[in-house]
Parts: sequence; structure tokens; C-alpha cells
Amino acid sequence: MSSDRTSPWNAIILGAGEGKRMKSDRPKVLHEIAGRPLVSWVVRSALAAGASRCLVVVGHGRDEVEQELRASFGEDVETVLQPRQNGTGDAVRCAIEAHPDLEGRTAVLYGDCPLLPASLLRELVERANAADADCGLVTATLADPGGYGRIVRSDAGDIERIVEDRDCSTSERAIREVNPGLYSFKTGFLRESIQQLDTNNAQGELYLTDVVELAARRGKVINIEGDMSELTGINDRRELALAAAIKRRAVAEELARKGVGVVDLDTLYVDADCEIEPGAVLGANVHLRGRCIVRAGAHIDVGCVLVDVVVEKDAKVLPYTVATDSTIGEAAQVGPFSHLRPKSNLGPHSKVGNFSETKKTTLGEGSKVNHLSYVGDGVIGRGVNIGAGTIFCNYDGEQKHTTTLEDEVFIGSDSQLIAPVTVKKGAYVASGTTVTRDVPEGALAIARAKQENKEGYAARMRARFRKKKEG
Ligand code: UD1
Ligand code: CA
Repeated sequence: MSSDRTSPWNAIILGAGEGKRMKSDRPKVLHEIAGRPLVSWVVRSALAAGASRCLVVVGHGRDEVEQELRASFGEDVETVLQPRQNGTGDAVRCAIEAHPDLEGRTAVLYGDCPLLPASLLRELVERANAADADCGLVTATLADPGGYGRIVRSDAGDIERIVEDRDCSTSERAIREVNPGLYSFKTGFLRESIQQLDTNNAQGELYLTDVVELAARRGKVINIEGDMSELTGINDRRELALAAAIKRRAVAEELARKGVGVVDLDTLYVDADCEIEPGAVLGANVHLRGRCIVRAGAHIDVGCVLVDVVVEKDAKVLPYTVATDSTIGEAAQVGPFSHLRPKSNLGPHSKVGNFSETKKTTLGEGSKVNHLSYVGDGVIGRGVNIGAGTIFCNYDGEQKHTTTLEDEVFIGSDSQLIAPVTVKKGAYVASGTTVTRDVPEGALAIARAKQENKEGYAARMRARFRKKKEG
């Protein structure tokens, strides 16, 4: 996706910080919005904008961050270690020293800025390149600029330097033009000036922002204006939640725009890596997490929470179903209140009804588990009917065992199947049976105490109770 108007350029993304303000063990840049870590959003923007090399500076929680990047981007991303988190300037220095071969222009982005649009980055790189500027940056104006570095301009209106919030004088603090933290440098200039930084500031760190002052002295700074709603940096849980809400809404609107039936734009939660086909319908307060796939004609009703689930064409998922790592077949019906645990694979036209739980089970075409059952480690053929309250006793305290029900089997209500066990084709299990041995094809299995009727007994019993009560 490299842009034609610009020569190749590099991106350095800073993701080594601990993120103390998050109050979390997880490295800040691995906190997620719409199912993707913050740093992944930034990397995607850089790649989409056309960066030919993408270096991510890692430090705090580096193993986890590297693992995440490798899993998502493979060879498209290289990592550089910043051994001690001594500021954004130090982070860039680490990257630039580790790569003496970098040339042309280099963009620097912060890994905690997940809403950044690729188009803005591309525009910045093109404009800075066209102006042959040592430094191009994005600026934005905020009603409440608290927390951000302020842009200090000369009387003539030229950018002179950036002052960090904590280093501001009273008059500087009132400046509303801020630094969202998006830069495009001439690599040679960056390499030289990054060596000149000092730690003479409130945080005792090397500030990348001081490089802007060095560029300004040479008269080579340009800026473009950005919209802060797309550039917000995530420093604490509140900002994370606000950014997640913006992204959630954007995903919902995008789905509706392409023809997915969105019942309520305000309460649809779909992770960015889900794939929803036009013609599917998603109800209010539906959560689709991870990598769900929902095919055309499928309907997911109110309150469902699906994680890594494939919902085939025309399937219906009724309210308040919870499912993980499973497949719901074409025109199948699940719910209300069903629980599909991992590796539940429901065939076409099958049904799982209320208060039924399935796990690691294949359910053949047209088979039904309609009420209050537990079906775990099952291999279930076509046209099987499992009555209310059936339990697959799959666990003996030590190991899990398989229950196999061949095609057209009928299991009467309130039966238990003690695995490993097989009910052969077309066999019938009478209600209330505990099945401990295989049932042959076409047979009836019945295992329950014989019923005895005591004539007149109920009336005698009631009389006795009455007598006791009276006295
Ligand atoms: C930074 C800017 C500030 C800007 C704001 C925009 C500096 C000095 N300040 O402040 O002008 O308004 O972002 O959001 O650059 N990081 C490292 N190594 C470090 C320190 C930080 O990799 O030693 C990474 C962090 O992981 C983070 C990014 O750099 O992704 C920004 O660091 P952060 O501490 O959040 O900077 P701010 O104080 O927000
Ligand atoms: Ca920040």
C-alpha cells in the first residue's frame, strides 16, 4: 500500500513504557480496544499509510509485546529493545542506533495512540517530504489541553518548541495547541539531534519533543492540523474506556453501512477482527469477540456473547446465548440461554435449546438437544433427539470419555449416558435410563425400577396427615 508520491520511509513506534497510570500488570500497549492491543492499532496504521519498515521499541513486558507483534504481523515488524525506560527521546535513540542503515524519512509514533488514521500519517509524511522539512508534526487544539505537550510559537507564529505539561510555566499551561505525538523527521537530522538531548526537565528523562526545538532553530519545522478525537493518547483506564467506546461505535456504524442489520448502534460490541457478512442481523447488546464469522441471513438476538464462533448462513442464535470457539451450522438454532463451550460443532438445521450446555461435541444435521441437558465429549449423528434433562457423564474424576449416538437415535428425558458408551443407529433409550453399556442398533434400552401402584393409598395417607394435624 506504499504511496506513489513519497519515497520509502520508516516508522518507529514507541511501546516500551510501563504505563504506571494504567494500574495494571499488563504492559500498557497490550491493553485492548475492540479486541486488538493498542500497539497493534498503531502498527496497522503505519503499515496502511505505507511505511516500508516498521520498528517497534519494546522494553517493559517485552516478551509479551514481541509475542503479540510476531503473531499479528510476522516479518512486517521488527523490534528494538530499550533496556531502561528513560523517556521517548531515549526510546528513539535506541531504535536509530540499532539501525545505522535507516535513511530517507522516519516517522515516529507513540504506541498508545490507537485511533490514529492512516490517512493523516500519510498526509504528514507527504507534506513533510514535499517541504523538505527536518521535522513535520501534527498539532491539534483542545479546549482542555491538560496532560499534553504544548506547542510554543514565536510572535511570527512559527513553532519554536514543545513544553511538556509538567514543565509548563503558568502562561504556557494556558496554550491550547498541543502535541498529539506524530512526527516525520529527516532520518539524518534525527540521528544527529537525538544525541543532543538532555534530562534537564521535570521528569529527568530524554524528551523526544526537544528534537522539535533543534529543528526549529534550523528553521525546518512544518505542521498540519489534526483532530484530537482521532489522536488521543491512552494513559489511564478512563482514556482507554473512552477510546474503546469511540472504536466500538465506529465498528458498529461501518457494519451497518455495509448492510449488516444493526438493531442498536449504541450497544453492539464487535471486535475488529470479526467478519460479519451483509444480510446478517445483530441484536441489541450483542458481543462478538475475537474472530467470529457471521454469515448472511444469520440472526444473533439480544444479549448473546460469542467468542471465536462461526455462525453459518441463516442460523438463529436466540437471546442470551453464550458460546466459545464453536460452529453453529447453517439454519441451526441455538438458545435462548444456551451455553456452547469450546469445540461444539453444530450441524445444519440442528437445535440446542434453553439451559443446555455442550462441549467438544459434534451434533449431526437436524439433531436436537432442546432442553436442560449436558452434552460433553459427544459424537452425535443425524436426526438424533436428546430429551430434556439428559446428561452425558463424560468424566470419571480422572479422564474424559466419549459418548457416541449414531443416526436417528432417540434418548428419552432424564437419561444419563455413562461414557465411554455407544448407542447404535436408530436405537431408543427409555426415559430415566442410566446407560452403562452399548445399545445395539434398533434396540430399546430401559434401566429403571419397576413401577408399583398401591390402590387407594393416597386417600389413606391424607387421612393420616389430617389426623396428625388436628391433634
Ligand atoms: C508524550 C509527549 C507529549 C505528547 C503526548 C501525546 C514526550 C516527552 N511527550 O507524552 O508531548 O503530548 O505524548 O500523547 O514525548 N515510551 C517508551 N519509552 C520510554 C517512555 C515512553 O517507549 O522511555 C513510549 C510509551 O510506551 C508510550 C509512548 O512512548 O507508548 C508515549 O509515552 P508516554 O509516557 O505516554 O508520554 P506522554 O507523557 O503521554
Ligand atoms: Ca501518552
